[in-house]
Amino acid sequence: ITLYVPRDAVALGLGANRVARALFAGAERRGLDVTIVRTGSRGLLWLEPMVEVGTPEGRVAYGPVTPADVDALLDADLVTGGEHLLRLGDPEKIPYLARQHRLTFQRCGVVDPVSVADYRAHGGYKGLEAALKLDAAGIVAAVRESGLRGRGGAGFPAGIKWNTVMLAEAPQKYVVCNADEGDSGTFADRMMMEGDPFNLIEGMTIAGIATGATRGYIYLRSEYPQAFATLKEAIANGIKAGVLGDNVLGSGKAFHLEVRLGAGAYICGEETSLLESLEGRRGIVRAKPPIPALKGFLGQPTLVNNVMTFTAVPYILENGAKAYAEYGMGRSLGTLAIQLAGNIKHGGLIEYAFGITLREIIEDFGGGTQSGRPVRAVQVGGPLGAYFPDHLLDTPLDYEAMAAQKGLVGHGGIVVFDDTVDMAKQARFAFEFCAVESCGKCTPCRIGATRGVETMDKVIAGTDAEANLAVIADLCDVMTDGSLCAMGGLTPMPVMSAITHFPEDFTRGGQMSV
Ligand code: NAI
Ligand code: SF4
Repeated sequence: ITLYVPRDAVALGLGANRVARALFAGAERRGLDVTIVRTGSRGLLWLEPMVEVGTPEGRVAYGPVTPADVDALLDADLVTGGEHLLRLGDPEKIPYLARQHRLTFQRCGVVDPVSVADYRAHGGYKGLEAALKLDAAGIVAAVRESGLRGRGGAGFPAGIKWNTVMLAEAPQKYVVCNADEGDSGTFADRMMMEGDPFNLIEGMTIAGIATGATRGYIYLRSEYPQAFATLKEAIANGIKAGVLGDNVLGSGKAFHLEVRLGAGAYICGEETSLLESLEGRRGIVRAKPPIPALKGFLGQPTLVNNVMTFTAVPYILENGAKAYAEYGMGRSLGTLAIQLAGNIKHGGLIEYAFGITLREIIEDFGGGTQSGRPVRAVQVGGPLGAYFPDHLLDTPLDYEAMAAQKGLVGHGGIVVFDDTVDMAKQARFAFEFCAVESCGKCTPCRIGATRGVETMDKVIAGTDAEANLAVIADLCDVMTDGSLCAMGGLTPMPVMSAITHFPEDFTRGGQMSV
């Protein structure tokens, strides 16, 4: 009898280890021969810890399970998929999951994350096998034709970046995975690394072979200890199984991979300060050009992509660029890992083709707010993303459509707020966040963010609100135009969207008529 209990950080936070121990002890008391496989999460976070049992008819899920439920579950024949109040049935038929387009996350929550054999048994390494039949230009062409754009937030065409690194000549090139997932409300990278790390390893290996880079690094944020442990174990098992090392899958091609931990700075998610940190220095942004694709890690050509960019690649190579490009709209092709968080009933991971609207995500998937109160504001794209009011919720998630509304897709994080939110405080928070996380290299951001907090405090106190809001608008123009990187350059987006869409929250002092 095989039981599947997640070891994803969210599930662990909700007691998955205690549930696993209780299941083991309960099964032993009943003389049942039970194997417990620790998986990742499928991303239905309100149902965690979600326990699954393998039956001849497929998996049957139960959740959310607490240690106190375990005895009743075992008595109700959990091991054969028996009836119980917590029984959810076939997990893949749960509407939240069944409605999604799971291309990248197809194995997450299903496989044993650290087993090469299980990964392969679920179709893993077919992308790399297909890539090995092509030359480098053929692999890059497939990535370009798929329309894949950088999933870290900037949406730069991945094929163009891969091509730049492929064509660069140097004795040593590198592939670096940006796993410094720092945006508020985001967890897709973490879920993938904890639930299906071989998908990332395979994607990075394909990238290494395509660009001629024989060494790769995963730059992981230190706040992800479970992902760190899982990645290290997966990489060690990958070396043993011959999918990493000097002779990848017997191809004669080399790809070596290591994990490096950050130290908790948001700015180290910016690619040039990430490279500084990876080289052992303080994470300070480097001026571009030169772009890392030409002069990156240790001054060598370096392909830097986000976890979600690399993990889209095995599917593309296995199924063809066209199969991937059939999803999505306009110039935003394929699927996006949407992370639904904040004040929401059913938060979780929703992989869906670009083009779904924010309203569909929040209402159809999310089921509205957790508090039951009306949605007032939705922040999309992390702490540097815009706050959208109700009338913009029919905007499709598409890079260009979001930009047209002065918003961001970013890394796909959506944070929902109900009508108790104070948008002036949120705008202040954006400046405060920038002041705390700024690397300090350029003046508009280093000084501007601090002046922004002070000025917003005056607005909140009702002191000369109109004049001070004019100062803020001016300051935001300077930060947008004069900052060296997206940290200072995008902080005005949450601030100005809050002022534009929720002006009533900035006029408490009553000095201003809007
Ligand atoms: P960017 O637009 O400067 O660059 C995008 C990427 O394209 C970079 O890797 C750059 O080196 C590369 N590139 C540009 N021209 C190229 C060329 N000709 N050939 C090859 N490569 C080229 O944007 P940046 O600063 O990298 O990212 C900003 C975005 O990051 C924001 O839009 C924001 O959404 C996102 N972000 C994401 C976070 C997360 O936790 N995932 C956190 C903070 C921001
Ligand atoms: Fe550093 Fe801010 Fe300037 Fe970016 S905008 S380089 S984080 S000071």
